[in-house]
Amino acid sequence: MSGEDAYKQYFVEYPHEYHFIINEEEKCEQLRPFLVLMVPVAPHNLVDRETIRRTWGKESLILGNVVSLFFLLGLAGEGQGDGQLQQQLRQESREHGDLLQSDFLDCYQNLTIKTMVMMEWLDTHCSTATYAMKIDSDMFLNVRNLVSMLLDTPRRGYMTGLVETDAEVQRDPSSKWYMPVEVLPEPVYPRYALGLGYVVSLDLPRKLVEASRHIRPLYIEDVHLGFCMKYLGIDPSDPPKENYFHVAPVPYDRCDYSKLIATTTEPYSDRIHVWEDFSGAELVCQEDSSL
Ligand SMILES: *[C@@H]1O[C@H](CO)[C@@H](O)[C@H](O)[C@H]1NC(C)=O
Repeated sequence: MSGEDAYKQYFVEYPHEYHFIINEEEKCEQLRPFLVLMVPVAPHNLVDRETIRRTWGKESLILGNVVSLFFLLGLAGEGQGDGQLQQQLRQESREHGDLLQSDFLDCYQNLTIKTMVMMEWLDTHCSTATYAMKIDSDMFLNVRNLVSMLLDTPRRGYMTGLVETDAEVQRDPSSKWYMPVEVLPEPVYPRYALGLGYVVSLDLPRKLVEASRHIRPLYIEDVHLGFCMKYLGIDPSDPPKENYFHVAPVPYDRCDYSKLIATTTEPYSDRIHVWEDFSGAELVCQEDSSL
C-alpha cells in the first residue's frame, strides 16, 4: 500500500449515494414535530428499540410541542438484504412506523456514514422541524427538560451537547479512537459535541452535508461533525446548564434525573423500571441536590 491508501481505514465512504430501503417520507410532514429524536441503532438491536419505545421514546407531546422519534439503521451484512432479519425489520417498520434503513453496511467503522445519512434525511424529509437530537440507544433522556431547554435556545446555527474543547487526538494504537499522525497531524480536535447525544437546529443538517464535501470524513462521527462545524465557522454551544449532559452514568435517583437531560446508563440496568419510577408520581426535590 502506498500514499493515502495505507490510511484508508480511518476514513469512510462518504459522500456517496446511499439509498433508503425502509423510509418514513411523510411522517414529519404529517406530524410537524418541533423536535425529532434520531437514534442510531444496529439492525439486530431490537432490545434497545423496544426499551426506548416503552420509555422516553413514547413521549410525543411535551409542553404543547410535538416530539417524533426515528431509529436509524444500516444493512446487517453484505448480501443479507433479503434475509430473515430484513423480513423482521420490514414487519417492525409496518408495526411502528419509526424505522429508517439505508443501504450501507452497519458497523462501528461506518458510524460517520450513518450520521451523515441522518443529516441528509433530516434535510430532505424533516426540515420543517425546529431541532433534531441524535441520541445513542443506551441513553436515558429526560425529554421534558430537553424541550424546555430548547424553548429558549437559538433556532438557527445552533448545536449543543457535551462539548469537548482541546480533546487530544489518540496516538495509542490500542485505543478505540486511535488516529495516526499521518492522517491527522494536529494534536487536538476542534471543539465537538460528544456523539452520545447532541442537538442541532434544523438549518444545520444541509450545511453539515455541504461542509462534508470539503472534508475527508474520519470514522469518528462526532469528531467529523466537529470538523464540519469548524469549516462552517459555527462554534458548538455549551448547554445553558452545566449538568444537563453526562458521559459517565449517573446512578438513578429520581431527583437527580429530574434535573438532567441525558446520561449514559449502566449496562444491564433496568431502564424500563427506572422510567416507570421516574415518570410516576410528582416529586418535590430539594434545590441543593448533588446535580
Ligand atoms: C461501510 O459501508 C460501505 C458501504 O456499504 C462498505 O462498502 C464498507 O465495507 C463498510 N465499511 C466497513 C469497515 O465495513
